[in-house]
This record gives sequence, structure tokens and C-alpha cells, in this order.
Amino acid sequence: MSTLHKHPVPSPVKDRVTVYAPATVANLGVGFDIVGMALDSPGDKVTVEAWDQPGVDLVEIIGDGGKLPTDPEKNTACIAAFETLRALGVETGVRLWLDKGLPLASGLGSSAASAAAAAVAVNELFGAPLDRVELLPPCVEAEAAVSGRHADNVAPALLGGIVLIISVDPPHVISMPVPDNLHIALVTANVALPTVEARAVLPSHVSLRTMVTQTALVAGFVHALHVNDLTLLANVVERDTVVSPARTALIPGLEQAQIAARAAGALAAGISGAGPTIFALCDDPLMAERVTVAFEAVYIALGIECTTHIARPYMLGATVLDS
Ligand code: HSE
Repeated sequence: MSTLHKHPVPSPVKDRVTVYAPATVANLGVGFDIVGMALDSPGDKVTVEAWDQPGVDLVEIIGDGGKLPTDPEKNTACIAAFETLRALGVETGVRLWLDKGLPLASGLGSSAASAAAAAVAVNELFGAPLDRVELLPPCVEAEAAVSGRHADNVAPALLGGIVLIISVDPPHVISMPVPDNLHIALVTANVALPTVEARAVLPSHVSLRTMVTQTALVAGFVHALHVNDLTLLANVVERDTVVSPARTALIPGLEQAQIAARAAGALAAGISGAGPTIFALCDDPLMAERVTVAFEAVYIALGIECTTHIARPYMLGATVLDS
């Protein structure tokens, strides 16, 4: 089995490892399945210990209100841990503890954060022979099991910053420049929206005209990041012609929140990942404060409970906390 792996089969070098992995905003308006950004809060933590049995023993989940599956084959942290053990060529297993800081089915990359934390923790336990890009396939397998085969949450959760996904299989990702002074105001309506449901409403085909429009917007988005042009960024982010329009009916308060965010000075606002969280890009912290107040007013008027917070881009990606 070891001949399948480019590294010799490693042994544990630590007793226990804990890793934090961040929330992520996928798509960023126009980059469906190909762009994602890591946030400095909230995030998930995974702790692993070496286990002399094969596989993954899920010892405990906290912070999920009892909602996550405890079957290791259905839990993204366990799947990513298992796939990382396989990638390492290790035949023993790990015991795993998951501490959820992220709300479930909220559009903040909850399943991806758990997967990224677990993959990095297992790799670290065995001396970190794999690099972050080599940890992408285990995380994509985990994501595919629960929400779809896309890497726009797991890649920034692993690498930090804003990541462009050129391809998932084989993994090819590029870290892009992150604009200075980016503050992200977020509002999460208290309604769960599983990613599979939000993907089910998407068109399976688009016209050539739509493809041209969307490609131009994505190109503008990438250029804006490279030249730190927030005006251009704002100009393209809200003009997604394919995915956001198809999901509008699923996201309570989306249009009102976008209008309120702009009125409060935000550069642009849109659906975070598959929703229902809505993000607004701001270029100063006071503007972000004003936007969260405006978001709250929208949901109070709609009679829907919500949570708001302000985040900054998180440049580190999944972070080893202690061993
Ligand atoms: N790109 C994915 C989607 C992200 O929008 O369905 C899900 O978090």
C-alpha cells in the first residue's frame, strides 16, 4: 500500500492535535463554485488523537444542538479524517472530537470548516507530510458526501484568504490578492437552508449569451482583486445572472437586505455560499457596523430572527492550536 504514496507511511509524532478552521463565504456573487474567502470568525475546532484501531472514532460533537450525524460515514470531519489517513497510507486510525462554532446549513461553509480542521489535524498528528493542496481531495470527498462536489469552501478553509478554484479534480487552486481594508458584514436569518436544496433550484444549462456575461463578470472580479479596485469589485459582485437569481426565492429578505446594505454604504451585498447568510463588502469598520444595523432592521420588519456579525478576511486558513 505504501507504494501508492509519495511519502513513506508515517507514524504519529504527537499525542493529540487541535485545529481551528474558519467560516468561508463561497461564490462572492459571481464566482459560483470557483471562488471563496475565509473569515476570521466564526470557525470549528477538531481534536484528534492516535488510535490503534483502523478508521475514525467520533468521540463527541459539541455545539451542534444534537443535529449533526454521529455516523462517521456521514460526518464531514470524520470523512475528511478518514480520507486523510488513506492519503497518508496509514492503516491505524484516530479518535476525533468536533467543536462546532459554525451554524449548520447557514451558507458559511460549516461542513467545509469541519472537514478542513479534521484533515489538517490528522496530517499534523503524523508530522504534516502532506501540503495544504494535497489535503484538498480528502476535504472535497467530505463535502461531496453532504453538499456537492465543490471546493470553494474547503479551499479557503484550508489555505485562508480568497481562493480561485481552477479545477477540483485534479486539485488546482490559486490564492488571490485580498483587498486592503475589507470588512464583511454578515446576517444569518434563523432558517436552515441545506446546500443540496439550494443547488437543486439551479439551472443545468445556460445560454451562450449568459455564459459570455458571466465570464466577463468573473474576469472583472479577478482583475479587481489584482489591482485592489473596490469600485470595480462592487460593480461586478451583485451582477451574477445565473445562480443568485435562481436562489432569490429561497433566501428570506435577500432583496431588502441588499438594498439596505447599499443604503448604509456597503460596496456590494450578496448570498454567502448557498445562503441564507447574506454578506456585504465594506471598506471600513464603521460602515460594516452601519450595515449590520440595517440588516437587523430588515429582519425585524420581516418578523424573522437573525444573527449579525462583522468579520475580516482570515489569511491563515486552518490553524493548529495546540498539540
Ligand atoms: N458554491 C456552493 C454553492 C457553495 O453555492 O452551492 C455552497 O456553500
